[in-house]
Amino acid sequence: LQKDIENGSCLGLSSEEYNREACLDASEQESTVSITVFGASGDLAKKKIFPALFALYYEDCLPKHFTIFGYARSKMTDAELRTMVSKTLTCRIDKRENCGQKMEQFLERCFYHSGQYDLEESLAELDKKLKEQEAGRLSNRLFYLSIPPNIFIDVVKSASKSASSKNGWTRVIVEKPFGRDTESSAALTRGLKQYLEEDQIFRIDHYLGKELVENLSVLRFSNLVFEPLWSRQYIRNVQLTFSEDFGTEGRGGYFDNYGIIRDIMQNHLLQIFTLFAMETPISLDAEDIRNEKAKVLHSMKPLQLEDVVIGQYKSHTRNGISYPGYTDDKTVPKNSLTPTFAAAALFIDNARWDGVPFLMKAGKALHTKQAEIRVQFCHVPGNLYKRCFGTDIDLATNELIIRVQPDEAIYLKINNKLPGLGMKLDRSNLNLLYSSRYSKEIPDAYERLLLDAIEGERRLFIRSDELDAAWELFTPLLKELEEKKIAPELYPYGSRGPVGAHYLAAKYNVRWG
Ligand code: NDP
Ligand code: BG6
Repeated sequence: LQKDIENGSCLGLSSEEYNREACLDASEQESTVSITVFGASGDLAKKKIFPALFALYYEDCLPKHFTIFGYARSKMTDAELRTMVSKTLTCRIDKRENCGQKMEQFLERCFYHSGQYDLEESLAELDKKLKEQEAGRLSNRLFYLSIPPNIFIDVVKSASKSASSKNGWTRVIVEKPFGRDTESSAALTRGLKQYLEEDQIFRIDHYLGKELVENLSVLRFSNLVFEPLWSRQYIRNVQLTFSEDFGTEGRGGYFDNYGIIRDIMQNHLLQIFTLFAMETPISLDAEDIRNEKAKVLHSMKPLQLEDVVIGQYKSHTRNGISYPGYTDDKTVPKNSLTPTFAAAALFIDNARWDGVPFLMKAGKALHTKQAEIRVQFCHVPGNLYKRCFGTDIDLATNELIIRVQPDEAIYLKINNKLPGLGMKLDRSNLNLLYSSRYSKEIPDAYERLLLDAIEGERRLFIRSDELDAAWELFTPLLKELEEKKIAPELYPYGSRGPVGAHYLAAKYNVRWG
């Protein structure tokens, strides 16, 4: 029915009789969406997926008929799943009285099935339970792989044979990491494509669902003032930074196999980078946007080892409190060389960005938790007010900061005359602070992405060629770091990271924001 609607017909109506709204209503009545969360007993499911599904339900964004199944090996009853899930649901959107009631209604639509990930029989049992809930309606099925990557293919294989929809769509959300390098990522893609078409695979990068990241294209392409300046002609450098003020916290086992470059840079920061640097897409269609993002990645200069600094946090005592080092984690080998911090200078070899350093910095256990994009503009040629800045002319350049989190904001640093009789300049901010401007709560990234997957919107998901290009950029560097056993520079827990990052920035005449 949905295909018919896309083709401009439905329910056998002639084109004169055809009415899209009526058809959509009919489709809503007739169809159902079943969401199965594999790995439902795990951290991500509890922390992000179920709360995001509840928020969508609360906001009336889920289809009229939907069912949610948690699936994992752990033994649990429906009631136990509901109790577990209820602990992480919040009425954060608003505190309307009916929130508690909505939670009850939501939990009644949640079920649990315990089974193995690689057994078709287990998935066939799930299929039976899904059918019971679908009650003969057209069935659309969304599978969320919130499980370790080594079992992705097992699940997809068994699910495609025993639990895929027979009359509606089947989509699969795949969590990162998508491999460790070019080869393993390609093998994963090949494995998935044995059972799924590319348009059924929704590779999630939750940074693409963050409000300010989604807004990046709006800022660039719907305001006259930014896009004309968006090139080497006016931009001196761009900084993309991610920092957390805590360590690996119980995820040391996973982290030690990946490190910060694979965990944050190759995906979250690189996705922001491609959206920042891409040319104007010919439309807002997912394929047009992803084509432009892929072109940026294909234009990258190879990453040089001398343009990269790596670090690892060590224990530190501050105000009588002692903070553990990375290798103090019992799941991390004592001699681990895995970086928990990295800074890198990247260059795009195209007409728009030739010579502009894009500095990326990502680290755990730093002094602050923050993610931002900082654009430093060129000097004003022949600036009349040069002498008013003293010796530090760098202070006089404009900066645009897009603060992804926390306290979402977009602000522009400008020079302004200090009010008064003299001629002193002041650096001020034109500030769009979201919490002051918008009263509505910003949805969690997982809400937006889950909704998009249900609606079949692929714009914020990673296509396989983008993924290949992202790995092609980072794999040679990662191999070199690992083969040469480059030791990370140690930095104290809670500090600003290794000093090497400052030398790297200085090499390109950049001052970290
Ligand atoms: P978990 O390690 O908590 O695993 C989820 C579930 O998978 C577990 O509850 C367990 O369920 C099952 N499982 C774990 N290890 C194995 C194994 N070796 N073989 C078979 N089943 C196993 O993962 P998370 O919930 O933390 O993350 C899920 C996915 O999302 C992972 O791919 C992770 O990399 C990714 N991710 C996680 C983030 C997070 O913040 N947690 C952030 C971004 C991505 P059971 O034993 O009951 O079957
Ligand atoms: C995940 C990384 O993808 O993103 C984690 O695996 C990191 O290491 C997390 O902590 C950060 O996400 P957010 O949304 O909290 O900034």
